[in-house]
Amino acid sequence: MTDAIERARTALSDAGAVVVLTGAGVSAESGVPTFRGAGGLWKEFRPEDLATPEAFARHPRVVWEWYAWRRTLVSACLPNAAHRVMAERALRRGNVTIVTQNVDGLHARAAREAAGDADPTAALPLEVHGSLLRDRCSRCGARSEPVTVDATSEATLPRCARCGGLLRPDVVWFGEMLDQGVIGSADAAATTADVCLVVGTSALVHPAASLPLRTRAQGGVVIEVNPEETPLTRVAEISIRGLAGDVVPVLIGETA
Ligand code: OAD
Repeated sequence: MTDAIERARTALSDAGAVVVLTGAGVSAESGVPTFRGAGGLWKEFRPEDLATPEAFARHPRVVWEWYAWRRTLVSACLPNAAHRVMAERALRRGNVTIVTQNVDGLHARAAREAAGDADPTAALPLEVHGSLLRDRCSRCGARSEPVTVDATSEATLPRCARCGGLLRPDVVWFGEMLDQGVIGSADAAATTADVCLVVGTSALVHPAASLPLRTRAQGGVVIEVNPEETPLTRVAEISIRGLAGDVVPVLIGETA
């Protein structure tokens, strides 16, 4: 075992409170594409065409077609070992807050699977960029269970049962505010955590990428797990180059 892994295991095991911040890399081994890097969604698609309120106002059918494709893609994916051990640790020790930038629902699914008949709440993530698996009315803001989207024409797009406005996926688009309650809770968890475990994010999108800085500013330890360097690497006290599914179970799995 490397020195970095040993130190990370000790820091995590001794910590009173842990915040885990995840990005697309934690779901990569489940088959969900990341955004940047080889095979990343933003290599093939332009965010300004698909992930802004302006794009939705101009071409709602095109935007829905892309999100419906992603919805189908993630519903065929399963939580991997990293999602599972995070959920198990949160349920077992109760001192872990999982904060994710991912909209794929895999942390929540791992939480429900790990909890079985018990209450999964302690392992449910704060989804700071929303969820692909929920709809929201673009007019009145009402949230609803996702419907099957027929994006063959604008006339077939789903509409709000309350006000008739166009439904949209309940994700945060570029230029939009994050849900203040959700990011506020994430910020509070990061500020009070003894350890911030950062897994699989390029750490380029704020305010999520600033959360580990909160932990660091209060004297907490930042641990990064990523096959590549990121802007957070120089902030992290412990940096581990590896894949989430390999490294995270070693750090916080039941035998860790
Ligand atoms: P990115 O695609 O920017 O970064 C993914 C990171 O995961 C990279 O640093 C990779 O090196 C790393 N990675 C890849 N495979 C990995 C693996 N198996 N294990 C661990 N790490 C791995 O994704 P995010 O940082 O999540 O925002 O992107 C942040 C935000 O930008 C997203 O939430 C999304 C996007 O635009 C919105 O949609 C609002």
